[in-house]
Amino acid sequence: MRQTERLAADAAGLARAADILRDGGLVAFPTETVYGLGADATDAEAVAGIYAAKERPSFNPLISHLDSFESARSQGWFDETATRLAEAFWPGPLTLVVPVAPSCTVSDLARAGLDSVGLRVPAHPLAHALLERTGRPVAAPSANRSGRVSPTDADHVLGDLDGRIDAVLDGGAAQVGVESTIVSCLGGTPRLLRPGGVPREAIEALIGMKLEEGGEAGSGPLAPGMLASHYAPRAQVRLNATSIQPGEAALLFGPGAPQGVEAAQATLNLSKNGDLVEAAAHLFSYLRQLDASDATTIAVGPIPETGLGEAINDRLRRAAADR
Ligand code: TXA
Ligand code: MG
Repeated sequence: MRQTERLAADAAGLARAADILRDGGLVAFPTETVYGLGADATDAEAVAGIYAAKERPSFNPLISHLDSFESARSQGWFDETATRLAEAFWPGPLTLVVPVAPSCTVSDLARAGLDSVGLRVPAHPLAHALLERTGRPVAAPSANRSGRVSPTDADHVLGDLDGRIDAVLDGGAAQVGVESTIVSCLGGTPRLLRPGGVPREAIEALIGMKLEEGGEAGSGPLAPGMLASHYAPRAQVRLNATSIQPGEAALLFGPGAPQGVEAAQATLNLSKNGDLVEAAAHLFSYLRQLDASDATTIAVGPIPETGLGEAINDRLRRAAADR
């Protein structure tokens, strides 16, 4: 249990909130849609803290919030359509999913391992001031526990997350009350991934074409988080491995060394001292590193199903099933 600070919407409150974020802490803050649960998007351990606080059973890509289109441009690659959408609707309740820019600093946990990134410049003046002071992209899903409704004021946030986050910046009631509209611009016709605060018609009128539906051609609409395209390792993935075969890559968790690990093609440990938050922070980058080792199989040691272990195991099971 930590002490959750309720910060006032003044210069001192903003300064404190930005300090906490820059130190890797969790701060809930108002946006014009709903309150977000923010963490430094560039710090994978801070992002893992979001999942722990929300008790989310799976990882999905999070929206990174920025103070300006200019800042967003250093994180993502904006084609002509994405540029027009950003110029027309930012700041505001629109999220654009675009390919990562070479200079992207958003952690791969915040992107759920994808090569694209969800970016939004919120219009709420406090959110803007906080992002400007923090000077980094801030990942922020809605500030509620998993399975509960999205919060539109600081009391809702505390009702769900008191004692689980460092602070809430109290900016009164959020105005829109529904989440941002999410549009992906990844080449071809832009797709509506989630309806929200900016009406579809306004977007279609601006770009002069109909948006495609859902996550992938022909797959129909997808609920947020149910993404058809996620990072799939090239190698096979073998779960609950208690011994390693020669030539396999080993993805370990905790202090033990499984039998045969000396002969592994490559070995990485998600957290030597068995910390699930640290493990979540390393998950996507370690999977990619082991995949690059050219091993035909990544053998994954047992990981407990408690706390963040549920989301980690969910992701690994999907990687194992992916072929
Ligand atoms: O209004 C909002 O958007 C609120 C406030 C706090 O800003 N935030 C919010 O964030 O709803 P979040 O992180 O819960 O939204 C996550 C959704 C994912 O479920 C997915 O649909 C989409 O954003 N998303 C983010 N990055 C993506 C990516 N790279 N590819 C596909 N979808 C992505
Ligand atoms: Mg939500």
